[in-house]
Amino acid sequence: MIICHCHGVSDRELRAAARRGESCADVARGCRAGSACHGCLPAVREILRENVVRELSRPKLEERQ
Ligand code: FES
Repeated sequence: MIICHCHGVSDRELRAAARRGESCADVARGCRAGSACHGCLPAVREILRENVVRELSRPKLEERQ
């Protein structure tokens, strides 16, 4: 699904950026989502935030053993 219509950036691209630990500024410099009209910024932030929550709630390797 396209999230940033100004630059044609999909949710998959944004989730990949989130897994790399990119910030909104990184995303704006990289795939450029959020760097034009800013209309997609709430969705971009939400996708990046979801990844942080997922990473923080995941058991650490030593806790899984
Ligand atoms: S919709 Fe993403 S910058 Fe305009």
